[in-house]
Order: sequence, then structure tokens, then C-alpha cells
Amino acid sequence: MRARLATPADAAEISRIYNQGIEDRIATFETRRRSAEDVRCWFDGVHPAVVVEDAGRIVGFASTSPYRPRECYARVAEFSMYVARDARGRGVGRLALGELCLAAERAGLAKLVSRIFPENHASRAVCRALGFREVGVYAKHGQLDGDWKDCVIVERLLGGSSSDTSPNLRRPSRRSKRR
Ligand SMILES: CC(C)(COP(=O)(O)OP(=O)(O)OC[C@H]1O[C@@H](n2cnc3c(N)ncnc32)[C@H](O)[C@@H]1OP(=O)(O)O)[C@@H](O)C(=O)NCCC(=O)NCCS
Repeated sequence: MRARLATPADAAEISRIYNQGIEDRIATFETRRRSAEDVRCWFDGVHPAVVVEDAGRIVGFASTSPYRPRECYARVAEFSMYVARDARGRGVGRLALGELCLAAERAGLAKLVSRIFPENHASRAVCRALGFREVGVYAKHGQLDGDWKDCVIVERLLGGSSSDTSPNLRRPSRRSKRR
């Protein structure tokens, strides 16, 4: 298996794998199938995507997309990852997301974020293995087929920013007890 940067020429294979994830109803609020043309629009020259090939066949991908349009969030990106049904549980997701983090760093991004359904143990395991932090849980954050679903928020700081732990995440200093 090998991971490489994705190009618009991979759009058909990426949409095939993404549509499996949409149909499975375990990964995303999206319910509309995506065409290769839809996926080609993801390539904006700023947000990288990677694919994993096994014996010359694309079996998974991970991609970034803009987080919010405001300028202050320009270096924060959303990410997602999808592995073909018949290739899950063989290390493809881990390889794809690991490579995506490197590509995102090279592209100058400072942080990746996403939201994961709590019961998506595979996705949470991959994120945990790659140093993502679970920030908390959005309760009833969206509806899928009419049902409200919670979302676990995950984040990972990239490159230089990863060493600057936010003061808000440091343990508070212990104060002597008041008598
Ligand atoms: C989630 C997904 C991308 C993970 O990719 P994968 O190739 O199946 O996972 P990997 O084989 O790389 O596994 C990576 C780690 O997760 C663990 N893992 C995999 N599947 C798991 C499961 N069902 N439950 C618990 N842990 C699991 C593995 O043990 C491995 O841990 P390790 O490296 O410490 O041994 C893939 O299963 C998938 O495409 N699922 C459907 C779409 C989806 O959920 N996308 C994520 C949207 S947030």
C-alpha cells in the first residue's frame, strides 16, 4: 500500500468510495450521493487530499476542506477520511490520515478538525492513534434520516503550532487551600 497526494484525475474513484460511506450512514450527515464532478470541485489549490493505493487500485482517501470563511480561520481545515468497504480494518485509514496531516502541514495549515458520530469507533480509533484530541461532544448536533445525532469534536494542531500548547489547556496551578 502507498499513499500519495490526490489529483482531480482521482475524482471518480474518490466519489465511489465516498458514496459507500454516505450509504452506510455511520460517517456523515450527508445523504446526497456525490458525482466525480462534485469531487473535482474539492481541489482548490489550498486544501490537500490524499489517496491510498493497493495493487494499483485506490482503496481510500482523506481530504481537507475550508473550516469557516472568516479570515481568522484561514489556516484551520476540516478533514474527512473514507475507506472502501472491502478494504476497511487493514490500516488504510491510518495511512491516509497520517499522510494527510503531513500534506496539510506542507500546505501551511495549522490545525485539522472534524466531528465524528460517537458510535464510529473505527474513526475515533484512527484519530486517537494519530494524536487527535477529543475536545468534547456536541449534543444533538444534526439530523440524519430524521434522528438527532451527537458529534464528538476532534482536533490536532500541526507543525509549529503543535508545540505551543494553549494556556487554556495547561493544568491550572495548584493554589494553597484557604483556611
Ligand atoms: C473509519 C475508517 C476511515 C477507518 O479506516 P480503516 O482503514 O478501517 O482503519 P485502520 O485499519 O486504519 O485502523 C486504524 C486503527 O483503528 C482501529 N480500528 C479499526 N476499526 C475499528 C473498529 N471498528 N473498532 C475499534 N477500533 C477500530 C484499528 O485497530 C487501528 O488501531 P491500531 O492502529 O492501534 O491497531 C474506515 O473504517 C471507514 O471508511 N469507515 C466508513 C467511513 C467513516 O466512518 N469515515 C470517517 C468519518 S469521521
